[in-house]
Order: sequence, then C-alpha cells, then structure tokens
Amino acid sequence: MQTLLITGAAGIVGTALRPYLRQKYQLRLLDRQPILGLEAGETALAGDLTDPAFVNQAVVGSHAVLHLACAHGTGIAFGSTVEPNYHATLYLLEAAERHGVQRFIFTSSHHVLGQYRTDAAETFDDMPAAADSYYALSKVFGEAACAAWTLRYKLPTFVIRIGNADAKVSDARRVRLWTSARDLAQLVRIGLEHPQVNHEIVYGVSECPDALFSNARARALGYAPQDNAADHLAADFLPYDAMDPVHSGRDHVGGSYAGAALTALLGARS
Ligand SMILES: NC(=O)c1ccc[n+]([C@@H]2O[C@H](COP(=O)([O-])OP(=O)(O)OC[C@H]3O[C@@H](n4cnc5c(N)ncnc54)[C@H](O)[C@@H]3O)[C@@H](O)[C@H]2O)c1
Repeated sequence: MQTLLITGAAGIVGTALRPYLRQKYQLRLLDRQPILGLEAGETALAGDLTDPAFVNQAVVGSHAVLHLACAHGTGIAFGSTVEPNYHATLYLLEAAERHGVQRFIFTSSHHVLGQYRTDAAETFDDMPAAADSYYALSKVFGEAACAAWTLRYKLPTFVIRIGNADAKVSDARRVRLWTSARDLAQLVRIGLEHPQVNHEIVYGVSECPDALFSNARARALGYAPQDNAADHLAADFLPYDAMDPVHSGRDHVGGSYAGAALTALLGARS
C-alpha cells in the first residue's frame, strides 16, 4: 500500500478526508496539533512544517503528498504567512523532488479569485488571479510553485482550489461553491491516481446551484460529484436577501475577505 503524507491533518479538511482515504492509502498524518482518533492504517507525525529538517524526514518514504497545512484568516498579516505558507510549501516541494515523490497535491482556495464580483463572469474557472487577502496571495504563490516544480523536475502536481468545506452550507454565497468531504476525496483520488496528471488546477466544489465554477477540467479528468450543495443547507442558512449587503461580501467571490482591509505587512493595523 502506498504512503500518503497529509500535512495539516488535524484540521477541518484533513479530519473529514481521512475516512475516505485510509482504505486505499497508508496515511502519515502530520500536524503540530495532536491527531485524534487514529485508526488502522494511520500514523501520526507531530512537528512544524517551518522546520526544513523535519519536513525532509516527513517526506522520506512517502509516495505522495497532500499539502493542507497553512496559516489563514481574513485579516492575516503578510508576515504571518511567510514561514508557514511560502517557506513550508517550498520545503515540501524540495523534499518531494529529493525523495522521488510521485504526486503532490496542493490545496488552494477560491480566495485566489476572491476580489471578483460574482456578476463579473458566468464562470470564474479561467479568470486571472485576484487574491482577496495575504492568505490568498500565498495560495497564488503555492500554485505557481507547483507549476514550476512540474516543469523543472517533472513532479506531477494537482492544485485543488477549495470552495467551502464546512459540514453544512451557511449562506447564499457559499452554496455556489460548497464541497462535501466525499466529493473532495474523489478529487484527491483523481489527483493521486489519474495517469494524465501533469500540472492541473481544479475546483473543490460539489454540484452547486448557480455555480461560480464549472469545474470543466476536473470533469474532463473524470470527476463526477455525488453531492449537491442545495441538499446540505444549515438549519440557520442565510438566503441572499438576509445577508448583510456590505459586511457579508455577498456580491464577491471571496465574500467578506474581499472587503476586509489588508493588514500591514508585518502586523495587524491598529
Ligand atoms: N475549510 C475550508 O472551507 C477551506 C476552503 C478553502 C481552502 N481550504 C484550504 O484547505 C486546507 C485545509 O483547511 P482547513 O479548513 O482544514 O484548515 P484548518 O485550519 O482547520 O487546518 C489546518 C491545519 O494545519 C496545521 N498547521 C498549520 N500550520 C502548520 C505548520 N506550520 N506545521 C504543521 N501544521 C500546521 C494546523 O495545526 C491545522 O491543524 C488549507 O490549505 C485551506 O487553505 C479550506
């Protein structure tokens, strides 16, 4: 059985994906937080990705990497993203190339397109990046780094721009870009197993009403979502008219991220 290293495995997405991946892969679950509820076929690896020696050791013996870990948040300062998002991603890519990793999956975000108004296009799949935050800017970097490693080192890389991966759909913006864990796991499996993966960018979204992303590339690779966001509305789901017209960011792809002030380079604005 092949070993899949999952970074940030203690988080929301990692925890939700584990049940779908552990039958097929030996999971090496890396996080600086404790990994709860280890099952057969899973091992935990505690440490921080900002330590290159630790990253190198973590990658040894891994056939593939699913890189989830990052620092994020609406108002995150640029300086807070440098080590965990830029350096750590490069440490991983360098180690992946050094140790013959066969697939590298990078979880990006719809926030790389977050500054667009939702009425600016019918589908945003192929629009140029419009990062809505320093968090999103670091995802643009991660995507570019993946492309560079594919071209230079022939490392197959698969970028998943996740929409919203909460257990339930909370409002009228997120219903247009939500994903179930089951569908996200299907995309991860495509990224790990599809023979034609070179460098790909796909969207981590289920079937969504009035979808912001057509996800044509994922579908061409065989993606067939099993879930529809409309069937997973939260009990307190906010329809469009109930959303705050300004603070919710309901008219922007990135929601409230698009309207938040960018914090100063090395710290939060007072
Ligand atoms: N949850 C969503 O709706 C969503 C939407 C878009 C994109 N994403 C992307 O999916 C990925 C996973 O998101 P999530 O919601 O699970 O995030 P999360 O914050 O719940 O989990 C991230 C995990 O990474 C770990 N981590 C962070 N920095 C680390 C470091 N330097 N070393 C070791 N561990 C570190 C944290 O301890 C945490 O357990 C992220 O890359 C995120 O940008 C998620």
